[in-house]
Amino acid sequence: MTTITTSLFLSLVLSCVLQVSSNGDAEILSRVKRSRLSDPDGKLNDWIITGDNRNPCNWTGIKCDSKNRSVTAIDLSGYGLSGGFPYEFCRVRTLVNITLSENNLNGTIDSAPLSLCSRIHVLILNENGFSGKLPEFSPEFRSLRVIELESNLFTGEIPESYGKLTSLRVLNLNGNSLGGIVPAFLGNLTELTRLELAYVRFEPGPIPSTFGSLTKLSYLRLTNSNLVGEIPDSIGNLIPESIGKLKSVYQLELYDNNLSGKLPESIGNLTAMRNFDVSQNNLTGELPEKIASLQLVSFNLNDNFFNGELPRVVALNPNLVEFKIFNNSFTGTLPRSFGKFSGVTEFDVSTNRFSGELPPYLCYMKKLERLISFGNRIKGEIPESYGECDSLNYIRTADNKLSGEVPVKVWELPLTRLELSNNQLQGSIPPSISNARNLSQLEISGNNFSGEIPGRICDLGELRVVDLSRNRFSGSLPSCINRLKNLERVEMQENMLDGEIPSSLSSCSKLTELKLSDNRLRGGIPPKLGELPVLNYLDLSNNQLSGEIPPELLKLKLNQFDVSDNRLSGKIPSGFQQDIFLRSFFGNPDLCAPDMDPIRPCRSKPEPRFVLVISVVCIVALIGALVWLFIKTKPLFQRKPKRTDKVTIFQRVGFTEEDAYPQLTEDNIIGSGGSGLVYRVTLKSGETLAVKKLWGGPGRKPESESVFRSEVEILGRVRHGNIVKLLMCCSGEEFRFLVYEFMENGSLGDVLHSEKEHRAVSTLDWTTRFSIALGAAQGLAYLHHDSVPAIVHRDVKSNNILLDHEMKPRVADFGLAKPLKREDNNSVSHVSPMSCVAGSYGYIAPEYGYTMRVNEKSDVYSFGVVLLELITGKRPNDSSFGENKDIVKYAMESALCYSSPSPGDKAMNQDSPGNFRDLSKLVDPKMELSRGEYEEVEKVLEIALLCTSSFPISRPTMRKVVELLKEKKPLE
Ligand SMILES: *[C@@H]1O[C@H](CO)[C@@H](O)[C@H](O)[C@H]1NC(C)=O
Ligand SMILES: *[C@@H]1O[C@H](CO)[C@@H](O)[C@H](O)[C@H]1NC(C)=O
Ligand SMILES: *[C@@H]1O[C@H](CO)[C@@H](O)[C@H](O)[C@H]1NC(C)=O
Repeated sequence: MTTITTSLFLSLVLSCVLQVSSNGDAEILSRVKRSRLSDPDGKLNDWIITGDNRNPCNWTGIKCDSKNRSVTAIDLSGYGLSGGFPYEFCRVRTLVNITLSENNLNGTIDSAPLSLCSRIHVLILNENGFSGKLPEFSPEFRSLRVIELESNLFTGEIPESYGKLTSLRVLNLNGNSLGGIVPAFLGNLTELTRLELAYVRFEPGPIPSTFGSLTKLSYLRLTNSNLVGEIPDSIGNLIPESIGKLKSVYQLELYDNNLSGKLPESIGNLTAMRNFDVSQNNLTGELPEKIASLQLVSFNLNDNFFNGELPRVVALNPNLVEFKIFNNSFTGTLPRSFGKFSGVTEFDVSTNRFSGELPPYLCYMKKLERLISFGNRIKGEIPESYGECDSLNYIRTADNKLSGEVPVKVWELPLTRLELSNNQLQGSIPPSISNARNLSQLEISGNNFSGEIPGRICDLGELRVVDLSRNRFSGSLPSCINRLKNLERVEMQENMLDGEIPSSLSSCSKLTELKLSDNRLRGGIPPKLGELPVLNYLDLSNNQLSGEIPPELLKLKLNQFDVSDNRLSGKIPSGFQQDIFLRSFFGNPDLCAPDMDPIRPCRSKPEPRFVLVISVVCIVALIGALVWLFIKTKPLFQRKPKRTDKVTIFQRVGFTEEDAYPQLTEDNIIGSGGSGLVYRVTLKSGETLAVKKLWGGPGRKPESESVFRSEVEILGRVRHGNIVKLLMCCSGEEFRFLVYEFMENGSLGDVLHSEKEHRAVSTLDWTTRFSIALGAAQGLAYLHHDSVPAIVHRDVKSNNILLDHEMKPRVADFGLAKPLKREDNNSVSHVSPMSCVAGSYGYIAPEYGYTMRVNEKSDVYSFGVVLLELITGKRPNDSSFGENKDIVKYAMESALCYSSPSPGDKAMNQDSPGNFRDLSKLVDPKMELSRGEYEEVEKVLEIALLCTSSFPISRPTMRKVVELLKEKKPLE
């Protein structure tokens, strides 16, 4: 009884006494512990006051000054404590450090009681459950050096009072759901050495230029902070030499900013670094030797203004896997020993000014997959050793000065693309090229290749693009060419080919371009060419073709047609008797047409008098015809607003805009979007089509104009089984419309998330979901890797994946899509600035929001979100994930839970029942999964998490995603 009264009395007195003994501190501490904290694990059981234990200095978590034994620091990290913030610890007058990280403390931190703590130097509360507004620190907190509040549930803006904490060295607010923008007043905190504001969900805003005054900063983390606009010039101050002190940096990602100047030499001190990416900046100068000698796994300097020679040491790095330095101005030769010491898989030195030869040991470790060296001045022969490189699947080394013969074994490699255009190579294509079974693009134009085109080339069923133009090939076109069912583009112009055009070409039904001009081809034009359903370009000019022009060619929808300078004869089919085709027929003296001056008319010259009569008759007839035409067309003019000016047809469709127009009624609307309405239109034939009507006519609304243009430009050109087909587009004065094949089952988004029971689908089973995932991935991989130029979709989401009657997916809606452009060449890994933030909420990759730039990896992220939708059946922003959590965060956390075994637990294989249980929380309860399917879901989940990695570099390419999905075995 007396002890209790004594201690109560004591604590009352202590609160107003300035000097307290450590005995008093013991009372304070143990009382606060009892009243404010719950200690389920009993970690603080030694916090008791007994006769011989009245000094807290040896209590768990307490530190005292070694001289006067006063309590200076409390560190209770990771003790499993719960309760509210223990303000009254601060009644211990000598206390300066409070660290309470990794506990379950919660509630708000209020400014009035917190003022008790105004003397403290350090406040570290990471990883707790504190909520409400960030704590306010009044000006009395003059000594505050460190505030760390990472991973709590604080909300609201950063209080202005933080701008006055001028002694602050460290401010870490990572992982809270703050609002507002990055406040400029933080620039007042000039003593800061570390500022961390990652993953805080600011509103989109710029990095304040005031941050330039933070000259002592050595660690700045602004990942995923919704930063937009350019990095202010002043930020250049932030990469001082001191950055090199961050010795433990593993990955330094500064890519896609506006960084200029030279790379600070001190980066070479970051010896633990493995991934280094400063691509897409305005960096200049030479690559410092010290940085080149870092043992990096991935080394990305692309898209800058670096110059000078590569330090030789760069090739001695035993870790190097990915080396991308394209689009710079490097000179000199490529170090010969590249690849000798490490398993380089991707080597992209394209668009520089390298001279000298290709490094002969590049595939020494048998790991090289992609060799990209176009656009340099590389000379010499293609090393014989490359022929032994079975891992190689992609070669682009156009626009160099390579000479000699291509090693026979290089032609036989399992390549998907072989691009050697515009060099000085010679020799012939060996028949053994038939071993290159995966070859899809063969581009070797502009060399001195000669000999015949081997018939064995017809074994390469994957060939899509064959460009042999501007060489000295002779002989005839192989007649087996009909076996190349995937051919899309054939360019063989400017060679010495003779023989006839094989009419079997007509079975290459995907052929869109056929250029055979400037050869010595003989015989007639095969009428069957008219059967090619999608041929747009046909150039047969400057050959020795004879016979009549087959009227069958009129069936083609030709954008370009040229048969000039041949020996064609007879009457030009009447459908071609139009001015736009005039030039197509020049240089064929034996062709005739009634009214196509200067092409001679077909009849022999009649008697002069007769001519006069005929002329009079003609004039009368002409006037009559005009009058008739006027009457006839009058109704057409009256419904002028509906008249279309321009119709472009991409695929044969049996209808005109007049058939469609009456059906564009409210009843037929099947969807609407920002750019217009989508209607379902049924033709007389019974065929159903989807028609998108865009608001306004040309020039009315710029957004809608650009949507129209990008759809037409991209879809008119792209053909792939998993990409929606644009059949036709019409552009009128007041409207434009786009006609697509109709997709029976609507969008994947509808099927997965629609409230009402979906028409055709009750539940999507896993097998169907998986094949949708794979199909969509293939469509995107095509856009990124095979389309020329490569295309980034920019709005990948479940609502833009349409499903046909067999649930086969088609990627749709290219209104925001953009080709990846570069000055003279196209390569998928290159990026282009985007004009405005595009994409849909929940699908936007973290980097997308602040860099204002887009690359194909942003699509990969969005695709990862779609995978997660397929697995969970939830929308990307489903409210059940909890506030401020999206599907990615949710899946990541769930995945972490189910894959973190207790230490030493070896039972982490697929059969572990624990895994099953936990994974099943994540998957859509509507699916019933077999054990085998569970494994597949697990694999797809891992792929989804790879795709949604915050760092674009860590995301796989779409081609890789397709591979991973197809692989049967689980991921490593
Ligand atoms: C603290 O010191 C006292 C003696 O001053 C001793 O009796 C007690 O066991 C010590 N406690 C711990 C946890 O070491
Ligand atoms: C308080 O924490 C800081 C930084 O963590 C440290 O440098 C300092 O030595 C600590 N002071 C005491 C008294 O423990
Ligand atoms: C704090 O956590 C406890 C459980 O540890 C809980 O009962 C209480 O409601 C929480 N308080 C707040 C404000 O979240």
